[in-house]
Amino acid sequence: MQRGCKEMLMRIAIIGTGSVGAALARGLKGKRHGVTLGARDPASARVRALADETASAVASPSDAAAAADLVILALPWNAVEAAVAELGELSGKIVIDCTNPLGMVDGAFGLTLGHTASGGEAVQRWLPKARVVKTLNQVGAEIMAQNAGLPHRPAMLMAGNDAAAKTLVAGLLRDLGFDPLDAGDITKSRLLEPFALVWINQAIARGKGRDWAFAAIS
Ligand SMILES: NC(=O)c1ccc[n+]([C@@H]2O[C@H](COP(=O)([O-])OP(=O)(O)OC[C@H]3O[C@@H](n4cnc5c(N)ncnc54)[C@H](OP(=O)(O)O)[C@@H]3O)[C@@H](O)[C@H]2O)c1
Repeated sequence: MQRGCKEMLMRIAIIGTGSVGAALARGLKGKRHGVTLGARDPASARVRALADETASAVASPSDAAAAADLVILALPWNAVEAAVAELGELSGKIVIDCTNPLGMVDGAFGLTLGHTASGGEAVQRWLPKARVVKTLNQVGAEIMAQNAGLPHRPAMLMAGNDAAAKTLVAGLLRDLGFDPLDAGDITKSRLLEPFALVWINQAIARGKGRDWAFAAIS
């Protein structure tokens, strides 16, 4: 981590350049972090255009992660286990898990893990030497990139075992316009992943659209 450096606060790798990865790159633009997009095809025109737009670098997922202080997993759930196996141990690094273990359950769209397990815990198990924080999974990608127009600062919960990691992640969430809330240890991913389905249900099934988020007001 380059503390005290005026030019760069954290070196951040975003693994996955789809909706969430692109939104986070856009949201972090100009926030003094050094962002590298970890892409399977770093030469693709789409990835190059995103890198130009967001002033990010591009590398393979493993090279991006190796050079980063903080690694963001913005991957489809069914790709996560294999993808993190290629990233190395990520020892001591902060890993933000924004995935949701979505799939078909008894014929309906839902979470494939829950109650006594979670995706966040699985990621921490697959990366035992990393400091995993579950967050940025609870609202749609668009509102992660741009939320300054909302009447209240939107809330974003986080869960993880390492207090120092959560302090740094809280700063990053503020950079993205969120009000960070600590939900507790990584097992609290069991609460945060179903919470994402509350947003999805409202946004899509109930027709509320994607331009909103949760706020904690008192
Ligand atoms: N979309 C949302 O609004 C939203 C909100 C909150 C949380 N989430 C969660 O965030 C995660 C990502 O969602 P998304 O909507 O961004 O998905 P997406 O648009 O499908 O993008 C997924 C990205 O992952 C990359 N990828 C797939 N397998 C990979 C691998 N093995 N190694 C490296 N990269 C790989 C894809 O690369 P290619 O371009 O090369 O295929 C793509 O860039 C999901 O778990 C989702 O549930 C999504």
